[in-house]
Amino acid sequence: SAPLRQHAASRGKFIGTALATGPLSSETSYRNIAATEFSQVTAENAMKWESTEPNQGQFTFSGADAIVDFAAQNGQQVHGHTLVWHNQTPGWVQGLGAGAMRTAMQNHIGQVVGRYADNPTVVSWDVVNEVFDDNGGMRGSFWYNTLGQSFIADAFRAARAADPDARLCINDYNVEGINAKSTAMYNLVRSLRQQNVPVDCVGFQSHLAIQYGFPSDLQQNLQRFADLGVQVWITEVDVRMQMPRDSAKDATQATYYRNVVNACLAVTACAGVTIWGFTDKYSWVPDTFSGEGAALIYNENYQQKPAYTAVHDALAAG
Ligand code: G3I
Repeated sequence: SAPLRQHAASRGKFIGTALATGPLSSETSYRNIAATEFSQVTAENAMKWESTEPNQGQFTFSGADAIVDFAAQNGQQVHGHTLVWHNQTPGWVQGLGAGAMRTAMQNHIGQVVGRYADNPTVVSWDVVNEVFDDNGGMRGSFWYNTLGQSFIADAFRAARAADPDARLCINDYNVEGINAKSTAMYNLVRSLRQQNVPVDCVGFQSHLAIQYGFPSDLQQNLQRFADLGVQVWITEVDVRMQMPRDSAKDATQATYYRNVVNACLAVTACAGVTIWGFTDKYSWVPDTFSGEGAALIYNENYQQKPAYTAVHDALAAG
């Protein structure tokens, strides 16, 4: 039957995947599914600071360009990920004093966003990523500890200056339901927009786990952000489980994926859903959560799982 991207397009949404440069260059099955099923791609690692500016002022875009070139060949859009984060950022950045750190941040954004500003394949950026703690306070990252909260507005302004047409997002995890963290995000986005800081979109990563339950107020939460005038995106969904897989867990997982897609379909301002990879062969989950895995919609042999069917059928149902 028709690929995910065809059904998503008929609903006015994108369906995306994160891509890793290793298998993209070496595995035909990986390339074929990525090219066929998805309309948007995010670099899983290749656009992060450690990849694009490992040493100050020395920019390397080989991995980023590989993703962008693949997307362009396949009629896909690229969502840039991510400009300002506390992980995968070189030590030289973290050790700077306030003035130099702000300048380095603005220069990095200018160079990375600027490289693709005239490239129609790259349409959007995660400008700042994961700035909150789960309790709703600001994360005590080196960014915050050195610059205070002002780095957030400064980052958005630098990104807008580098590409006036790119959609600029703030992205986080554990903000899918209505809770202290998502309410802190809501208040920040409202405040930034009141100050004319160019925040266009909020990314809800949606790293879910079947053993922790589904955030049943996801749609309601997306809608309250939409009512602020921003787009809402599902940016990194995956649904992990305790291994080993079995058919009951697969069925629960499929329900979670279906619920995420349906929440996005029900909110006009939800632009689409990106899955954080597609094959269980390549997933961050087993490396991070001991004993957990199988979080994606294809198994490690590139066979579709019930979760694939759930996403497909939810998109096709309209
Ligand atoms: O590049 C080295 C390689 O040289 C080395 O051989 C290999 C050995 O482990 O490590 C490689 O680096 C790894 C890198 O991914 C590239 O594969 C790191 O160890 C590994 O920690 C890193 O993990 C990434 C993680 O972010 C780190 O922050 C995951 O692939 C990536 O999926 C994950 O993505 C994040 C999003 O950016 C933000 N939201 C949460 C999400 C999941 O953590």
